[in-house]
Amino acid sequence: MTSSSVSVYLGDEYLTQETKDLLSSLPSEKGWLVSKMYQYEGSWYTKGLIQGVLNCQRNFEAKDSDIILATTPKSGTTWLKALLFALIHRNKFLVSCKHPLLVGNPHSLVPYLEAAYRVSPDVSFSELPSPRLMQTHLTYHSLPVSIKSSSCKIVYCCRNPKDMFVSLWHFGRKLSPEETAEYPIEKVVEAFCEGKFVGGPFWDQVLEYWYESRKNPNKVLFVTYEDLKKQTEVEVKRIAEFIGCGFSADEEVSEIVKLCSFESLSKLEVNRQGKLPNGVESNSYFRKGEIGGWRDTLSEFLAEVIDRTTEEKFEGSGLKFSC
Ligand code: A3P
Repeated sequence: MTSSSVSVYLGDEYLTQETKDLLSSLPSEKGWLVSKMYQYEGSWYTKGLIQGVLNCQRNFEAKDSDIILATTPKSGTTWLKALLFALIHRNKFLVSCKHPLLVGNPHSLVPYLEAAYRVSPDVSFSELPSPRLMQTHLTYHSLPVSIKSSSCKIVYCCRNPKDMFVSLWHFGRKLSPEETAEYPIEKVVEAFCEGKFVGGPFWDQVLEYWYESRKNPNKVLFVTYEDLKKQTEVEVKRIAEFIGCGFSADEEVSEIVKLCSFESLSKLEVNRQGKLPNGVESNSYFRKGEIGGWRDTLSEFLAEVIDRTTEEKFEGSGLKFSC
């Protein structure tokens, strides 16, 4: 990410000597949007994020009551942050003009663990309302041990890879338009399918959470962007039940669904103007919010390249993406 907007994740100002030594031993290469990315525990990161991952793995202490949202990038993280926040705190904040989601971007209300830990090993989450809600893009095997060993809950959300890719493509181009000339879409699709992009490989992460959710359904809930979009109320109730705040027969879910909808959130001043602390414009997280939007951007050939990769990777898993 060469533009200043995400250079916060690139900077080496917070790297410890230990991390610098580790980086020099890791596989690394130039990637789309990044001058150099590093492979750690099978996934690709910027060096700033590697520091965050290491600090997080060593120092994050999960509580049994915590709720962890895990996602692949551009798969509905913002939406799930809003929905989970609204669900968990629905008795504290009624859906009214004073709701925190009306005046705060979902990313400001729900911390991103690896990014928070990038700056310091001593991050405090004591100011978060209880139960604590936090988000990560880490693979299951790279999660801090306490997340796996405690009774905290993990809600995992992913999205069909063509839409996820296209969302990432537009997000990246907005952050760093100058990269487009050097990296035409064909080259980025190729890197995506090889798993070589920051946050990748996509399929490995999805499969790992998929199998964990089947092995341990009380620990990991597997959600897809498509299901959430197609049957929002059903999925929101399922999520609420899983995190221990299910809806009673006479309780309405529709207000929360409406508050967190793309249409509502994307129109709010706080999500239209200004930048987030990571330097990214708030409105970058709200583009189209549709299923199947990849058709506007991917040629038939590129769509097939991604489909073929999905078929190969998911073969025998029982996992399929609609669309
Ligand atoms: P598109 O680029 O396809 O529009 P993330 O939050 O993980 O970065 O994902 C961003 C994607 O989720 C973007 O997809 C964005 O428009 C979409 N999105 C954001 N808020 C949403 C909401 N409330 N409902 C549905 N989709 C949403």
